[in-house]
Order: sequence, then structure tokens, then C-alpha cells
Amino acid sequence: MALRKLSLLAGVAGVSAFVSAPIGGAYQKPLGQESAVANFNCDLPPVLTPAGDGLPSGQSLFSSEAALLKQVKRHQAVVRVPTVCYDDLGSFDEDDRWAPFYVLHDTLAKTYPAVYDRMTLDKVNTFGLVYTINGSDPSLKPIFLAAHQDVVPVADESTWTHPPFDAYFDGEFLWGRGSSDDKNSLTALLSAVETLLSNPDWSPTRTLILAFGFDEECSGYKGAGKIGEFLTEKYGDDGIALILDEGGLPVQLVGDDTLYLFPSVMEKGHVDIWADLHVVGGHSSMPFPHTGIGIMAEIITALESHTYEPQVLKNSPTYNHLVCLARYSPEESTDIADLLKKDDLKKLTTLFVEDGGKVARYMIQTSQAIDIIQGGQKINAMPEVVSLGVNYRVAPQDSIPKVQHNIVKYVDSIVQKYNLSVKAYEGEQEYEAYVAGLPLEDRVAARSDVDYQGTLVLRGDEKSESTPVSPTSGPIWDVFSGTIQHAFAFEGGKVVPVGEIMNGNTDTRHYLNLSPHVYRWTPSRQRGDENIHTIDERVRMDSHMEMVSFYYDLVRNFDAAEA
Ligand SMILES: *[C@@H]1O[C@H](CO)[C@@H](O)[C@H](O)[C@H]1NC(C)=O
Ligand SMILES: *[C@@H]1O[C@H](CO)[C@@H](O)[C@H](O)[C@H]1NC(C)=O
Ligand SMILES: [Zn+2]
Repeated sequence: MALRKLSLLAGVAGVSAFVSAPIGGAYQKPLGQESAVANFNCDLPPVLTPAGDGLPSGQSLFSSEAALLKQVKRHQAVVRVPTVCYDDLGSFDEDDRWAPFYVLHDTLAKTYPAVYDRMTLDKVNTFGLVYTINGSDPSLKPIFLAAHQDVVPVADESTWTHPPFDAYFDGEFLWGRGSSDDKNSLTALLSAVETLLSNPDWSPTRTLILAFGFDEECSGYKGAGKIGEFLTEKYGDDGIALILDEGGLPVQLVGDDTLYLFPSVMEKGHVDIWADLHVVGGHSSMPFPHTGIGIMAEIITALESHTYEPQVLKNSPTYNHLVCLARYSPEESTDIADLLKKDDLKKLTTLFVEDGGKVARYMIQTSQAIDIIQGGQKINAMPEVVSLGVNYRVAPQDSIPKVQHNIVKYVDSIVQKYNLSVKAYEGEQEYEAYVAGLPLEDRVAARSDVDYQGTLVLRGDEKSESTPVSPTSGPIWDVFSGTIQHAFAFEGGKVVPVGEIMNGNTDTRHYLNLSPHVYRWTPSRQRGDENIHTIDERVRMDSHMEMVSFYYDLVRNFDAAEA
């Protein structure tokens, strides 16, 4: 059955729950405008085996037991430093919980002597790490490989099989908070570059940048936000050839001989909505029939009864994913091919969601999660303020103002019933512009003749529209895809890199101006099975070794490329 293997997508963890940043307030172009290729047929660029630089192959360097054990030591040193990002961290000099970041920097300096010897290190906003080595040809735009130093907190150490900061290695897995997200990338990147720079005869033709933020799990403003500004100052908008950060979907093997890999070429939008309901309180012995909490409960019910629709858009990454499946796994996807031919996007959507489960659904559907409710202070007093927080991840067929306006519409009958006045997103310009552009009958009528019983204040926060789509054709993609095909090649099989959409957000939010070629992909076949953000996070070390080898090959291939 077509797409059956998509169920592999189930269990992939969103990379980071709460990251987002406004993208210069500017509206992003609608999906597809930037880089959609009509008649995309999933041609694969050639496999790109690094050659011509006289270096040993990644395979020969990184597949031995000795190499693995050396890498275990490095990764242990990094994972043992508890660089936790807490949402309520204070300033650098006043909050001791920043101290581990200094320790991590010392650890990196000891672990990667060639990197520290040969690369220029800029510390951006105290803890941001930007390593640069100039290429000999300044006409080539740099490549920028990213990761983040911070990890999410551990809720309860006693629930872990091995203590979260022991970095215990059981012969197969290395266990610990951050062993996967995202120190897996951090260690692998530094190790690949350490290997290159340990060779005194090798120096890059193309400038190479490694940069590591330190608050990705908290918002990324202090780390990636400042690193983005630093790199923009240095290289300018569109000054970088390729940006690669964490992310992507788990690999998918179809029919035992076709391996699909999914770098994310796009992130969904994000908005948090806060609703504060202000009502009259009073003594609980003589209550109103509905307190503010009761009214808010109705509001929640109204929101949850309106979910968004999934939609595979023509020429979107997901559509192109289906094109690739139809082309390279025809036996497993006869129905996909048929629906593509008929241009039946509706049925394609149904098929994708039915077979791909929750992860697939939310790649193409705006999600809504009621996450925070606060109200009531005293058991004998009716609440005067009740607050609600709702998290949305906005699919490209929707927009943030549309989501905001839908809330106003969905709660309108409750607002009417209780004679509430509504202050909807006051001062939020995109919202106001959106409403001004609606036909009159679609605006929610203001009511002036009512004796208001309370006020509902709506506010949007942490907004970012879905990102532009990074290209899946052209010279930069070809080097990237060619390297993936080389690095993940297997006997008798075919490797198909496919751009996809990502549900979560990454630090790349802060880097979008630097390059149109932004890819979010942790080059691991294990991804999705590593307990990211929960107990017993771990990484398979053989999979980690593949990552080291991939980064090693990627730098070499981009060094040889003229793009
Ligand atoms: C690298 O190149 C830039 C721009 O050409 C130059 O300003 C900088 O000093 C160089 N850095 C090193 C370490 O050579
Ligand atoms: C709402 O206002 C109308 C008109 O002023 C009034 O008739 C009605 O009783 C009010 N309803 C509530 C729940 O206060
Ligand atoms: Zn991460």
C-alpha cells in the first residue's frame, strides 16, 4: 500500500517547542512564489563523491571501532556539561545557571585543538560561538553549519535509566540530555572539521563558518538572534551559500531499496494567542450563573470545536515529496501516481494524512493547542481575570492574521451571549490590515448599544509566518543532495533526498536573510527514535559516526564546488 512506510514518521520529535522570532515584521511570500518549480519531476543530481583534495575518505576515517571510541570520549565530554536553557534565566552575570556554558567552552577548546588553533573564534553576546576559517577564494560565498549548545531541562532525574548528565555509553547508545538534541550535531560538526584541520596541508578554498547558539530551546533571541546580526554585518544579506542546521524528518525506506531523506526546506509559521477575560468578581455565596472561568471554558470549547483542515498544496514540498515517491517507488505508490495525474489534491491530502499519521497531518495543517489556563485566586471569591494561552503552528494555506481573526469569529456567539466587549489585537498592524481587507460581511460586527459585562482582550505574541521555501534544484541543492546520496549510499539501493516541511522551529529563524538556501537536517538515519525532549534521550553512536562522515564530505564537496 502506498505511503505505508510513512508511518515511520510517527514519533518524530519537533525540534524545539517554543522558538520563534518575527522575521523583520515583513510578510513572507506565499508558498511557492519563491522557488516552486512547476513540473517538478524529482530529477536527482549526480552522486557527489569527494575527490581531488587528496584527503582520505570519510569511510576510512570514521568507520573503525577505534574512531568510534574516540568519538564516544568527545561526545561524553560535551554531553556531561549541563548547558540547560531555562525559560526564566536571568542576566549572564546574575544567574549562576549560565555557568555551565563557560565550562562547555573550556571543554570544546580542550577537545578540538586544531579547530581552536586554526579557526578564528568570535564570542557573540558572551556565549554564542562563531568559528571561521577563511577560504583562499574570497569570491566563493561561505557555508555555515549550525548547531545549538543548550539542552532542555530534565524534569525528574530519577526516571532516567542512566543519569542524564553521566553520558553513559552502553556499547551502542550514548545516553544523556542533549546527546541527540543538539549536541549530536555540535560534536559531529566540530569533529569533522577537527579532522580536516588536523591535516596541515588542508585549508579551505571556501570560507567555512560553524556557529552555535545557546538558547535555541528558549527562543534563540540571545544566541542565534545575535549571531544572525553578527553574520549579517560581516557577509550581508544573501551573503552565504548554504546554511545547514538541525531538523528534518526521519528517514523512510520504501520497498527495501529506496531510501528517502527529508531535509526541511520550510518551517511552518507560529503564533501564541493570549486571551484575558476581565469580569466583575464578587462573593461566592451569591454567584453569577457563570463566572469568568465558566465563560472561558465555553471559549475553549468553541476553539477546540474548530480545527483546521490539512491541505497538500500544489508544488509545495509535500506535493513534491509525493512526486518523488511516485517516481522512485512506483510499485508502492500507484495510487499516488494516479492522483497526481488527475491533479486530485483533495484525495492526495486524505491519503497523506491517513497513512502518515499525526506528524504528516501537522506538516500540512495548522495546529492549535490550548496550553495555558489561569484564573481564580480564592475559593470564596469569583475570579476577576481569567487568562488563556493557545499555541498555533500555522500551515502555509493559512496566515497568522487569519488564525487571529478566526478566533474572534469562533467566540463571537459567546461574546454576544455574555455581553462582553472585545479588544482584538489592538495595535497589531498585520491584523488590522488583514481585517481592513476583508469584505464587510466577514468582519465581526462591533456592538455599541450593549451594557458590557466584561472585556475579552486578545493578543498575538511570538509571531512568525511560515518561511520561504528553500530550493530543491540548482547548483547549491545539487551539491547538498549529491553529498547526501554519496554519504547514505547502500548496496543495491537508491538514495532520494526530498525537501519537506518541518513542524517545529529552529535557530534558522534568525538566519533567513543570510541565504535562500537554508536546510534543516540532522544527517542521521536514527532521528525520530532518540527521545528528544523527554526521559532517556540517547544517540546511537554508529549513527553519530555517519553524521561526522557526512559533515566531512559536505565541507569537501562544497570546497570543490564552484557554485
Ligand atoms: C578573513 O577575511 C576577512 C575578509 O577578507 C578579513 O577581514 C579577515 O581579517 C580574515 N581573517 C583572517 C583570520 O585572516
Ligand atoms: C446583555 O445586554 C442586553 C441588552 O443590554 C440585556 O438585555 C441582557 O440581559 C444582557 N445579558 C447579560 C447576560 O447580561
Ligand atoms: Zn534542537
